[in-house]
Amino acid sequence: MQRKLLVTGGAGFIGSHVVRRLVARYPSYQILNLDALTYAGNLENLRDVEASPNYQFVHADITDEAAMDRVFADHVADAVIHLAAESHVDRSILDPLSFIRTNVLGTAVLLNAARKHWAGRSDVLFYHVSTDEVYGSLGDIGFFTEDTPYDPRSPYSASKASSDHLVKAYHHTFGLPVVISNCSNNYGSHQFPEKLIPLMIHNIVQRKPLPVYGEGLNVRDWLWVEDHAAAIDIVFHKGRLGETYNIGGFNEWKNIDLVHLLCRIMDRKLQREAGDSASLITYVKDRAGHDRRYAIDASKIQCELGWSPSLQFEEGLERTVEWYLAHPEWVEHITSGSYADYYQRQYIHR
Ligand code: NAD
Ligand code: TYD
Repeated sequence: MQRKLLVTGGAGFIGSHVVRRLVARYPSYQILNLDALTYAGNLENLRDVEASPNYQFVHADITDEAAMDRVFADHVADAVIHLAAESHVDRSILDPLSFIRTNVLGTAVLLNAARKHWAGRSDVLFYHVSTDEVYGSLGDIGFFTEDTPYDPRSPYSASKASSDHLVKAYHHTFGLPVVISNCSNNYGSHQFPEKLIPLMIHNIVQRKPLPVYGEGLNVRDWLWVEDHAAAIDIVFHKGRLGETYNIGGFNEWKNIDLVHLLCRIMDRKLQREAGDSASLITYVKDRAGHDRRYAIDASKIQCELGWSPSLQFEEGLERTVEWYLAHPEWVEHITSGSYADYYQRQYIHR
């Protein structure tokens, strides 16, 4: 079957893995990657697919109504996989408005364009990619299910929760065919080195302090990004309209334990003495409003759509470390320019 698929945010971390997978697996689809190329968007992520006949790039901002109208008119997309967003919690604390602009307003602009251009069509789909952070923070036990009430607690998660609600509202009010997935923390190649795992790898290589927030006891559920891309592929093709699917790694780690594991892998890969990388660990002032624990119950997507993670965490971390060590030029390009200021920020030691 031929399809014209608009992927927003395809130059970012998860988006580039989604685009790579779709371009390779579905040669009869036209994949249009729409991205504003913010500090987090990087076309180097897609060098290996850019010459493919079924791939095209459009440089545009999802908050730009006229541009979105033009994109829908010119390309007659029949499905959207919406990943474009501001995605980093720490930045949302520094600058909440940019998150509201892109994640809330941008999603609304896209929904409006889809609604206008898809009027009367039922063979279309708006797939919204979201986060488990919309559910808030867990105590020591329990899991987020698709029925967990929304309780976002950072400007990032509040903006993503708002966008989820808008997508559901367009489904209920206007009958727009939609599906949503809410995923846990991703890791893997091409992740911007402001997020925990690539930041730690980068700092270990450079022998810089490893800033662990608070006591390092916060818990995250980690999923290999290619397993997330596989889940998105399945939800896109088989997900039921109007439904939400939680995606997770069944893989909870306290931050400090994860950082120690990473340090051990890095010592081995860099042929440094055991304990060398761990000596860089520095406890710093906690993130404001830091959510304690996220954990996903992914049994719905597992039972209904047959998806489950393919990779053990330690194997995934090894692969991730190897990728960063083999691509110093990628890190060098992405950490220069507009990122440099943010990266030079001062931490307050505990
Ligand atoms: P990312 O920050 O790496 O990439 C975001 C992409 O969106 C970039 O290419 C950027 O240029 C683009 N973008 C930003 N603002 C834009 C705008 N106004 N118009 C067009 N493009 C714009 O993010 P990511 O980690 O790949 O996350 C992708 C999506 O997945 C986001 O919606 C995020 O909320 C969601 N998500 C991420 C995680 C995670 O662990 N990273 C987990 C669950 C869900
Ligand atoms: P992050 O990768 O920013 O993802 P999120 O906040 O969306 O879960 O952070 C993952 C965890 O690691 C989170 O509990 C905050 C913590 N963290 C640190 O301890 N130090 C750091 O430098 C960063 C970036 C995160």
